Amino acid sequence: MLSYQHIYHAGNAADVQKHLWLVSSLQFLKKQKRPVTWLDTHAGRGLYDLSCKEAQRLGEYKTGFRTYRDKRQHAKELDDAEKTYLKLVADLNQKRRGLYPGSALITAQLLDKSDKLALCELHKGEIEHLKKALAPYKNTKIHKQSGYDLLSDIARQAPSGGVLIDPSYEVKSEYEQVLQSVTNALALWPTGLFLIWYPLLPAGHHMDIVKGFQSLKTSYTQNIQIEECQLRPAGSGERGLYGTGMIIINGPKTSFRPLLETTLAFK
Ligand SMILES: C[S@@+](CC[C@H](N)C(=O)[O-])C[C@H]1O[C@@H](n2cnc3c(N)ncnc32)[C@H](O)[C@@H]1O
Repeated sequence: MLSYQHIYHAGNAADVQKHLWLVSSLQFLKKQKRPVTWLDTHAGRGLYDLSCKEAQRLGEYKTGFRTYRDKRQHAKELDDAEKTYLKLVADLNQKRRGLYPGSALITAQLLDKSDKLALCELHKGEIEHLKKALAPYKNTKIHKQSGYDLLSDIARQAPSGGVLIDPSYEVKSEYEQVLQSVTNALALWPTGLFLIWYPLLPAGHHMDIVKGFQSLKTSYTQNIQIEECQLRPAGSGERGLYGTGMIIINGPKTSFRPLLETTLAFK
């Protein structure tokens, strides 16, 4: 049974890192001037109302997107991904404040009509929100199916495009499942752009997938980046994540780490 709901965490520091990479990767693919196929294996609800009681309970967006925006919106040296990300959230909030776009809505907004977007979501409540948020985007197909299964189907077709894998890691075995699914997909789809998010938690479960991806670097592709942003000391004794990590395969050569560690590290 799925219990995780991203609304409790929407707009947090992990979302900022993940969504900057998403924007940057989609811009990178669009420069190649070929129709893009994008898969979001764990789509969530697409649009988050940060004023609702669930988002207010932990208020993670305050130390995440809100802090990031307040520090960066008037900065002079914004790169294209930052500019686009900040504008996208600002535009969304023009009529009503307190909204934050999920990965599905960000992707839908950056793709063209000739591109294809496949979204997987298994939670019955989340998928209803997702259908509503994505209704205007006719090039989008929503699947109530495991994202890992659709990843192998799309990898077999090896289109021009990529995938965001953003699980909740509710069960420890999911780290292994991510590594296995990407290894299998990459064998069929060596040109695919893969974005994989993982949490830095005191239990250190992420270390095994990081090692696994480091060894993929020699067997499948040279083009793997691992970006970990540490937001507070690992052994601070506080619950929850102490940082946020991304694995980027065949993606743009950039890094958001210095930016995020400067703007979002907990003081
Ligand atoms: C971290 S949230 C996704 C947040 C979203 N990617 C974003 O950035 O806005 C993970 C979501 O994956 C869903 N989920 C869990 N296991 C899944 C699976 N095997 N396939 C598809 N969705 C799944 C959960 O219900 C949850 O909504």
